[in-house]
Amino acid sequence: MSIRQIADGWALETKSTAYVFGLNSGGMLIHRYWGARLPGENDYPPAPSSAIWLSFNGPGQLAREEYPAWGGQSFVEPCLKATFSTGVRDVVLNFESATIGENRDGVQELRLRLSDKHYPLVVDLFYRAHEEYDLIERWAVVTNLGTEPILLERAWSCLWHLPLDNRYRLSHVSGRCLNEMQLHRESLAPGKKVIESRRLTTSHHAKPWFAVDRGNADEESGEVWFGTLAWSGNWKLVAETTDFGSTRIGIGVNDWDFAWRLDSKGGASSSLVLPACVAGWTEGGFGAASRALHDYVRGELLPHRPALHPVLYNSWEATYYDVDAPSQTKLATIAAGMGVELFVVDDGWFQGRKTDNAGLGDWRPDERKFPQGLGPLIQKVNALGMGFGLWVEPEMVNPDSDLYRAHPDWVIHFPTRARTEGRNQLILNCARLDVQEHLIATLDKLLSENNIAFIKWDMNRNVSEPGWPGAPGDPRELWVRYVQGLYRIWGTLRERHPTVTWQSCAGGDARADFGILRLADQIWPSDNTLADSRLAIQEGFSQFFPANVMEAWVTDAARERLSLEFRFHVSMCGALGVGCDLNKLSAEELRQAAQLIAMYKEIRPIVQLGHQYRLRSAQQSPFSAVQYVSSDCSAGVLFAFRTHIAGYDSTVTLPALFLRGLQTDWLYEVEGFSGARSGAAWMRVGLRIELKDFQSTIRRIHRV
Ligand code: DGJ
Repeated sequence: MSIRQIADGWALETKSTAYVFGLNSGGMLIHRYWGARLPGENDYPPAPSSAIWLSFNGPGQLAREEYPAWGGQSFVEPCLKATFSTGVRDVVLNFESATIGENRDGVQELRLRLSDKHYPLVVDLFYRAHEEYDLIERWAVVTNLGTEPILLERAWSCLWHLPLDNRYRLSHVSGRCLNEMQLHRESLAPGKKVIESRRLTTSHHAKPWFAVDRGNADEESGEVWFGTLAWSGNWKLVAETTDFGSTRIGIGVNDWDFAWRLDSKGGASSSLVLPACVAGWTEGGFGAASRALHDYVRGELLPHRPALHPVLYNSWEATYYDVDAPSQTKLATIAAGMGVELFVVDDGWFQGRKTDNAGLGDWRPDERKFPQGLGPLIQKVNALGMGFGLWVEPEMVNPDSDLYRAHPDWVIHFPTRARTEGRNQLILNCARLDVQEHLIATLDKLLSENNIAFIKWDMNRNVSEPGWPGAPGDPRELWVRYVQGLYRIWGTLRERHPTVTWQSCAGGDARADFGILRLADQIWPSDNTLADSRLAIQEGFSQFFPANVMEAWVTDAARERLSLEFRFHVSMCGALGVGCDLNKLSAEELRQAAQLIAMYKEIRPIVQLGHQYRLRSAQQSPFSAVQYVSSDCSAGVLFAFRTHIAGYDSTVTLPALFLRGLQTDWLYEVEGFSGARSGAAWMRVGLRIELKDFQSTIRRIHRV
């Protein structure tokens, strides 16, 4: 069994890792070990006994507590901070019990109960070991068992302790809309590095993902501790190195402007279930860390499991808001001729939508654009052999809409303040039950009345004036209840329409996280569709998301500078889509596009479901390469891209590419190279590819 009780503690063991914690002599729940799986249980270090240091630090300051609460003489970042009805703000958690059992789905779980020494506050810590993925999953549930309310001011999911060392480096991604997922690596020194979202969504700006190494890991080797939080709202990650040299990563729902009133026992709000964090250790470098998360997403998270995504066409950049039955039918006919499998109508199809200042909220086809509804267009698209997809932005409302006119109180706002608009829209308060019911009913009707195979769920602004007049609890619960409401709406619709594929979009990747991947099958990584910018964004995205969830369109952006082939090759690294204005493509371009789509269909299982190796970084070098290998190692695909390198072409010699992931003693052929060579040779000797500025290539690899 992967979770077991050992002397003075518990061990979670996966294929090659172990995570161990236990009680010390003072009864504190202490982290003991996280790293390579060791042969015997006595190999894992004991939990050190509690100590104090002069008169300035209590045990909480020195001990590496598994789930510290704020109390006593401790100044490190706690997981929990609460105020009791008596005004006491000191939490003393004691270990109460532990059970190892199976949950309703037969998955083994460890549950530890901690309870406050005096007050009826309990914290249940939950653990799972994903043996085959080498990952540990943790979360916490905080419950009030008493009759008086308890106010939570921080409730994190967990704290991950790293081995005692002083050489740590944190990798994380940051960016902004149109330039997401830029990778940063920085040394951790005593003090804290904080990354977070305060924007109601996960945000374009940072992601709740970390990878920590000792400053010496690279793509293929070195110890890396990594993890990510499954949450689609405000979050916070604090990487702290304490004054006693202990480095830890605390992660959870953001405590900024956060409050949660735990009502008395038995009430619906007496418990708060916190989001799960999945994390792992590897000595295979950042590449292996990514691959473990990719496998987990495909094998565990995705609602449709590892489905192969069809090649889609999205008409947004071709027609913008000018959608109507004739324009879409024309595009659909051309798209089908190219080999497209799913035709998606984006923004602009619904009542009153001429531009971005009206219509959001009124989710019925615009009578002037679709006088007979969407039916005839969908039938035409289906007759052309394609599925039909539709864009919605359910959480939003334009003040110029029937919905807002009927329910101006449904938006997030403070009564005495202006309602700041973003893109002329306001945010419906999805924390409210009436809003949830309305959205479920409206979208259910849309999906029931039309043969829709795909929904792109968009969300195009950040929050402002986060008020909730009439909130049943503390109005600051909005941050969490909004996300819970969103999950309920989306989850209910998924249940009622299980064959629909869903894409999470928020003006790009502002809602890209492991929480939404339980509901969405795909993510839209960026509104920046410039293929050369996209190379860098896609690479950041691959740090924790697999290629099959990454929707990637070929568009007309920079077509004067970037060849159709280059633009296609970039998008073929994920779930290929096309977003060009097909009316403007020449016959030759259409023929070339059809050929590339046909080739993509051939390599699609390897790209979408294979193991990904980042051979050369696009964020660091104008010559980049990425390789995908089938899970049985018998086939692969190599993509190489050159953007601009200074100097005349003839004077530039590109470095060799060393393939990865092949079986050393199997023979392989690589397209464009004569003769079979062993996997070892392709990986050790490498291969040379010549490319000019803004050229790219795809080389298929197969076992002979
Ligand atoms: C933002 C999305 O990211 C785009 O792809 C497009 O769907 C627009 N919204 C439509 O308003």
